[in-house]
Amino acid sequence: MTSYARITGWGKYLPERVLSNTELEAFLDTSDDWIRSRSGIAERRIAAPEETAATMGTAAARAALARAGVAPETLDLIVCATSTPDYYAYPASACLVQAALGAPRAGAFDLSAACSGFAYALVVAAQFVQTGAYRRVLVVGAEANSRILDWQDRSTCVLFGDGAGAVVVEASDAPGGLLAFELGADGSGGELLYMPAGGSRRPASRETVEAREHYIRMRGGEVFRFSTLIVPAVVERLCAQAGLRPRDIDLLIPHQANARIIASAARRLDLQEGVVFQNVERYGNTSAASIPIALDEALAAGRLRPGQLLALVGFGAGLTWAGALWRWHG
Ligand code: UT7
Repeated sequence: MTSYARITGWGKYLPERVLSNTELEAFLDTSDDWIRSRSGIAERRIAAPEETAATMGTAAARAALARAGVAPETLDLIVCATSTPDYYAYPASACLVQAALGAPRAGAFDLSAACSGFAYALVVAAQFVQTGAYRRVLVVGAEANSRILDWQDRSTCVLFGDGAGAVVVEASDAPGGLLAFELGADGSGGELLYMPAGGSRRPASRETVEAREHYIRMRGGEVFRFSTLIVPAVVERLCAQAGLRPRDIDLLIPHQANARIIASAARRLDLQEGVVFQNVERYGNTSAASIPIALDEALAAGRLRPGQLLALVGFGAGLTWAGALWRWHG
């Protein structure tokens, strides 16, 4: 039996600690003016020492489950998109979320697609629901980016932040939900944004620690160029798949990496004022958490009504990208 995939619950969690650009000026050769003008970011959240991808993801998941009116015991699957899992090998953070929520029926796995992770995971969840295999899937995007940032590298550390978001995807008989999707990758760009050590290629050693290779490195300009091209291209292809035009989109939530990337996409797609959601100024780039956090805030602000068209586009390390076009059930 086939079904439509309906998002019935959403939630977010942001750590309390706010780190402003002005505070960064105290220990980095940077300025509030540079960060704002190059990225649009004014402040970001930083996880407390005891907070992790799983604890933040669990908090966001509880909010999403409460909104959906879904008991965790009834979940069929938990997918946690993260690049900063609690443990690098295992257990998956999704398993920690499953245990914390008390969801014994649910399978659980992490999905690693960097800043595209949530959009990838949402599409995966929708497949299980649309085929009738599962009825209730929890999708989490959670990141403790501050743990893998080099706080001596001004070209990366000013851009990222911590947080989590989650949605509940349920089977529905009412037409709507996922209309079109695209999952993409260009692995040849892998080293444009990566963490050199800590994996099987370059295991942790005194040498790797001394060389600061357990922190992320990014060739910002090249990632920027890729990002500005991929967002409008994916939106156009999603719309073509569904027989629609970009102008039909009521709400576009791109991954929140940089306000200039978002503005460039809006310009290229010739979207009307107010269609593109942006909150990067308050949270920085929260990788896989950025889209579900933004979705939660857009819904709280009344930016999406039943029957309207929602487009989500993630992009980032890998290189990866993922887009999804939804007819919102409400
Ligand atoms: O989530 C995954 C996707 N990630 C992204 O999409 C991020 C993509 N990249 C970007 O957002 C942008 O490339 C950055 C925000 C990282 C940089 O913006 P930019 O317009 O590409 O910067 P730029 O090349 O015009 O400026 C770089 C200059 C360099 O100085 P020189 O060599 O031109 O003298 C840097 O040393 O800015 C300098 N710089 C800084 N200066 C003050 C780099 N970081 C900083 C900083 N404060 N924090």
